[in-house]
Amino acid sequence: MKTIAHISDVHFGRTECSVVNSLVEIVNEMRPDLVVVSGDLTQRAKSREFIEAREFLDRLDAPQIVVPGNHDVPLYNVYKRFFQPLHNFRKYITDDLEPFYKDDEMAVAGINTARSLTIKDGRISEGQIDRLRHKLEPLDDRHLKIIVTHHPLDLPGGYDEDEIVGRAKELMPKMAECGADIFLSGHLHVSSITNSAHRYRLENGKAALIIQAGTATSTRGRGEANSFNLIAIDRPFLSVKRYECNLSPNGFALATSEQFTQTERGWSRM
Ligand SMILES: [Fe+2]
Ligand SMILES: [Fe+2]
Repeated sequence: MKTIAHISDVHFGRTECSVVNSLVEIVNEMRPDLVVVSGDLTQRAKSREFIEAREFLDRLDAPQIVVPGNHDVPLYNVYKRFFQPLHNFRKYITDDLEPFYKDDEMAVAGINTARSLTIKDGRISEGQIDRLRHKLEPLDDRHLKIIVTHHPLDLPGGYDEDEIVGRAKELMPKMAECGADIFLSGHLHVSSITNSAHRYRLENGKAALIIQAGTATSTRGRGEANSFNLIAIDRPFLSVKRYECNLSPNGFALATSEQFTQTERGWSRM
């Protein structure tokens, strides 16, 4: 069995110290095989915010896959926004904008969806998908294939279609052909788990799970408590446990647990 702690939208610059400490403590206690951080590490892409984010990542014991979010691109400094959009992210977090992790049971690939030309929207390019295919297609079915983006590929009810990452409709069939099992993202500050077969008409592709984490530590929760997901993979089963911060005086505690199973047609809720 493998476990992934999926953390998103930590937004250093808008965090509560006790929540950050509680998150570090519980994630290290869980001893996950991998920590995924799906973007928006900072609030305004400032150096001091990235230094705090770096310190946070250094306190987590597990290997990490980290992708940037729209808040990791400077908003007001126009020169930096267009000419060095991810300068601080590269300097303090990682220079690798297409991180890849592989062990004997899972392969996890990150894609940068943050762009200078839009304030909050994201996008995937054809080139990014081509490079993804080179990584994922040679792997056999032993590996669960997981793609990490900041911007979501599906939405919970009540959201405008514009919130979906740009070019998702054209590129989802290609990602399905790569054998994508799971998509992990953030951005909305709202947790949800949906199935790719509902939004996308995939002819030969498998149904994938689209899992969104809420904000782990930002004070801007949009109505939801701070949360993160612990994903446990024990094929053909997978569980997603969501831990929330307001349920216990001691910090994060288990809030919900959902189970999924894999068939020939992909993943579905049990
Ligand atoms: Fe965010
Ligand atoms: Fe975002």
